[in-house]
Amino acid sequence: MFSLPLRDGATLRPLELRHAEEFAAHMDRAREHIRPWVGAAFVTTGVEAARGTLRRYAERQAADGARLFGIWLDGTLVGGVMFTDFSAAAESCEVGCWLEPAAEGKGLITRACGILLDYALVERGAHRAEWHCRADNERSAAVAKRLGMTLEGVARETWAYDGTRHDKQVWAVLAPEWRAHRGL
Ligand SMILES: CC(C)(COP(=O)(O)OP(=O)(O)OC[C@H]1O[C@@H](n2cnc3c(N)ncnc32)[C@H](O)[C@@H]1OP(=O)(O)O)[C@@H](O)C(=O)NCCC(=O)NCCS
Repeated sequence: MFSLPLRDGATLRPLELRHAEEFAAHMDRAREHIRPWVGAAFVTTGVEAARGTLRRYAERQAADGARLFGIWLDGTLVGGVMFTDFSAAAESCEVGCWLEPAAEGKGLITRACGILLDYALVERGAHRAEWHCRADNERSAAVAKRLGMTLEGVARETWAYDGTRHDKQVWAVLAPEWRAHRGL
């Protein structure tokens, strides 16, 4: 399968069912770091549960829906990016991401999300790409900002975590804005 260089020994590749053991080991390093900020179903323990996530994404990809990609740094799976939602009919998608702590602060996610946005907004002709994050997730909002997205609004008290309902930010970029951001 393809392997796209990101930077400094990091590559972006499809994250597939065959990576279940690697994904489970990665989740052991990432779990507590990502738990407050991502959907609960994504935070798994063990190889079988990891396989469940990979199978779910594979099935959705087969229907031209969601897709999952891993980031490998010096040969180790350290995180990834995904279309949590992708609809050719609605000409829209939603992008998500995560990293284990050791891979933060290197620009890998901004670069990888740029590749996904090129695919959705340029290659596939989607008109709109969204980014959803907890309103207090500053690192995630910073990625959306670096990608040239606009903060469109806040869904109040919609993100339940650990007994508290958090606000959720919705960021988005439209195809012409993305082309301008990329200088296309
Ligand atoms: C959200 C998350 C993926 C962002 O990771 P990140 O490393 O901050 O994002 P990037 O990969 O784009 O890297 C940007 C950082 O790398 C630095 N950087 C270094 N070299 C860089 C380069 N060449 N280009 C861009 N940034 C670079 C930037 O300065 C920035 O660091 P700073 O915020 O300390 O200034 C990560 O914090 C995470 O996994 N959080 C927990 C899970 C989560 O929140 N997921 C998102 C749910 S909505």
